[in-house]
Amino acid sequence: MKVLGLHKDPWHNTGASIVSEKNGEVHFSNLAEERVDRNKDSRRFPLLSTMACMKESGIDNFNDFDAVILDYIIDKEDYRKDSNKIAASQYNFLNDIDPSKIHIVNHHLSHAYSVFYSSKFDKSAILIVDGRGSDRETQSLFIADRENGIRLIESTDTIGIGLLYAAVTIKIGFTILQEGKTMGLAPYGQNVNKKFLNFPKNYNGVSTDYGSICIENSYEMNIEHPPIVTFEDKARVAFEVQEECENAMLHLAQYAKDKTGLDNLCISGGVALNSVANYKVLQSGIFKDVFINPAASDTGISLGNALYGYHHILKQPKNYTEISPYLGPTYSDFEIKQAIEKYKGFKVISNNAFEEAAKMIADNKILGFVHGRSEMGPRALGNRSIIMSPLKAENKDILNSRVKFREEFRPFAPSILREYAQDYYVIDRESPYMLFVPLVKEDKKEIIKAVTHVDGTGRLQTVTKDFNGKYYDLIESFYKATGVPVLLNTSFNVAGEPIVESPEDAIKCFLKTDIDALLIEDYLLIKG
Ligand SMILES: [Fe+2]
Repeated sequence: MKVLGLHKDPWHNTGASIVSEKNGEVHFSNLAEERVDRNKDSRRFPLLSTMACMKESGIDNFNDFDAVILDYIIDKEDYRKDSNKIAASQYNFLNDIDPSKIHIVNHHLSHAYSVFYSSKFDKSAILIVDGRGSDRETQSLFIADRENGIRLIESTDTIGIGLLYAAVTIKIGFTILQEGKTMGLAPYGQNVNKKFLNFPKNYNGVSTDYGSICIENSYEMNIEHPPIVTFEDKARVAFEVQEECENAMLHLAQYAKDKTGLDNLCISGGVALNSVANYKVLQSGIFKDVFINPAASDTGISLGNALYGYHHILKQPKNYTEISPYLGPTYSDFEIKQAIEKYKGFKVISNNAFEEAAKMIADNKILGFVHGRSEMGPRALGNRSIIMSPLKAENKDILNSRVKFREEFRPFAPSILREYAQDYYVIDRESPYMLFVPLVKEDKKEIIKAVTHVDGTGRLQTVTKDFNGKYYDLIESFYKATGVPVLLNTSFNVAGEPIVESPEDAIKCFLKTDIDALLIEDYLLIKG
């Protein structure tokens, strides 16, 4: 069985995924178009990502697929064309595929497939919270179990927390898809003694209705407020919308619990990237366990589409435990050597490269770290990462001024060996995808200053040997050298660019920034 999932609608984050079978086992591949066409949040028709996934899955011909699944936004009939001019300029292979193999799925249902089948849960409530889905829905509640699949309980098309958060993000002065900046800014507004926005509390079932203050079909707001001028003003506004987001998510979680009575909750859709709100939901204890997939935004839609095809259309049972986030293409040793030989300006160490790289981190150097298949979603999870020591507070500024060029207020995230997570953080379980933001333990705040946010939290990634052995070994080497089992992990890119994908992308980014060294598999590239 071979299924292609495509997300092509002309909003953002197009991409491809394939679910196929290799030697009796299910094989997954996923790639966002932005990683190959190198345009952040790409809207292009996902041709390059499809071809990369086909290569990874050993599929040569577009007609070899048993099913091809797309989601839709508003127009179900438009799969052969595209309203976006840029997208239409790409070769659309859908025209060459037998139409009986092509199926269209609801966008929120696709998010639900993406998150539930990635989780270990046998049964779960599922909340989807994003901007708008296929038929203008904003927030949906589903129920899922392995035997019966996924069923919609309720959805709403009232303006929800996703659109409110986007509108306030723009009000602050950021642009669309920069909600993460608002979340990072919010803690700076906590103690500012001013009030800007009053949000209506129209919570009703799966609806949290902000229609009275948000203008339909725009990111404009119809609300009076004092002028938002200074950094403090902006931070206060960010704090207010973040607090509202947490309240709305807690309401939705409680409603999901009351409606389903289940122990587990899956959350997906763009708002599920709000790791601070996710942690509040987890901490509330409304559900025993909460799972959020790393590609919670529309970068996960192509995978949801492929999973819908495999499990629902082709009726295949789930015979795997969970889905790894590391689903990008594989690069051969030959391809890596070829990329290295193309460029100059560094020496290459191939003996004990890993040990040398580990020493450099302990020596407070900046390391680009590329190995294995790339991770899906917007967070680097150790396979396409820039790594630095978390021990010195100034490392945040060093990284910003030499490599990342990000706003000073945005925090960098910590990766920690799983077995030490409770020594450093107020958390009682794994957080493998940086989608929970727990408090740092009081006695550890001074130790890992570069990854502790202004409110004493960290957007945590717990790392296990099983899940990412090479990254585990790197953190463990740092632990042996310093006594601290934590590394600073930020995505391998510069502001405004997608995360690097191929070894060549990594080398180009390495050369144009002030990263000290780059480890690609077993080759260490050092400048100078
Ligand atoms: Fe979505």
